[in-house]
Amino acid sequence: MSAQPQQTYIYDNHGRPISYVRLAVTDRCNLRCFYCMPAEGIKYVPRKQLLSYEEMERILGVLVAMGINKLRITGGEPFVRQDLVGFLEKAASIPGLEQVHITTNGVLTAPYIDQLKAIGIRSINLSIDTLDRERFHLITRRDEVHKVEATMYKILDAGIPLKINAVVIEGKNEEDLVLLSKLTKNLPIGVRFIEEMPFNGEGAHYPKLKWNHQKMLTHLEQHFGSLEKIADDDHSTSRNYRIPGHLGTIGIIPAFSRTFCGTCNRIRITSQGLLKTCLYDRGVLDIRELLRNGATDHLIKASFLKAFGNRARDGFAAESRRNTAVAESMSEIGG
Ligand code: 5AD
Ligand code: SF4
Repeated sequence: MSAQPQQTYIYDNHGRPISYVRLAVTDRCNLRCFYCMPAEGIKYVPRKQLLSYEEMERILGVLVAMGINKLRITGGEPFVRQDLVGFLEKAASIPGLEQVHITTNGVLTAPYIDQLKAIGIRSINLSIDTLDRERFHLITRRDEVHKVEATMYKILDAGIPLKINAVVIEGKNEEDLVLLSKLTKNLPIGVRFIEEMPFNGEGAHYPKLKWNHQKMLTHLEQHFGSLEKIADDDHSTSRNYRIPGHLGTIGIIPAFSRTFCGTCNRIRITSQGLLKTCLYDRGVLDIRELLRNGATDHLIKASFLKAFGNRARDGFAAESRRNTAVAESMSEIGG
């Protein structure tokens, strides 16, 4: 993450800069969140079909040379992949890559926090839908909440900026909208509530989404009174607020309603090396195949450019280009 002269961005066919890549380093996970996977898990792909770290580094090198300056590591659960920290160290030292962030479920993460701090990881997003032991167990099908909570405090102690991502789910963790929001009173945390999406390995669970972004906001305001609107970062997917007097902030992410597509600067690479220029598309380029067929950096770059030049305008357009309904597990895509 050395200081390099500011790169110029690549723009997509709708005039949006592409500056942020989300890379899923594995499709495997140690939890079984019901909104992400069926209880028996998804069929994990054979290891050889996952990108190797060397392949990931090569792809990142090309993307950073094209102007991408922000990386988020996702999964599955990134920390189930061996030697993740070694890879992070290499990724973080790619000249021109200014920011590396991680999204993790926090179960295995605590022992690595000091190393993450030393590498210069910019922030950590912890996926925590509830801190209640029973509800956590019901949602993730695992009894691990104590480890996640310990990770949360360790991140705060290390001074790494922390966000909590909570999917708000009908009948499962509705009370946690208020309970998790209360964490922001004395802790410098951004608690973000996400609309549930049908990426769960089986397809939509409900005919209609109960907890949409408007309803979440109304519910919070009924409890806390008016929330203060605070500035949203450029390209932010969350609408951000503060409960008056609280240290931390609240964000609401309309992941299903998709109201933020107009400023989308992100692409995704799945654990198998498929490029997605929208979360809702089926994958628009097989980068793994290119690499394994001996493509030059020049060809890889040209293939990226072509895909960026044919991006769907928004998540609805991307969805309508598909010939299958959205049903894949988020653990393949990385959120
Ligand atoms: N709907 C909304 N969010 C989801 N995530 C996983 N599956 C879904 C879904 N079906 C979230 C995780 C994590 C992020 C990477 O994606 O909870 O916070
Ligand atoms: Fe694992 Fe995240 Fe999927 Fe839960 S949502 S099963 S933590 S990948």
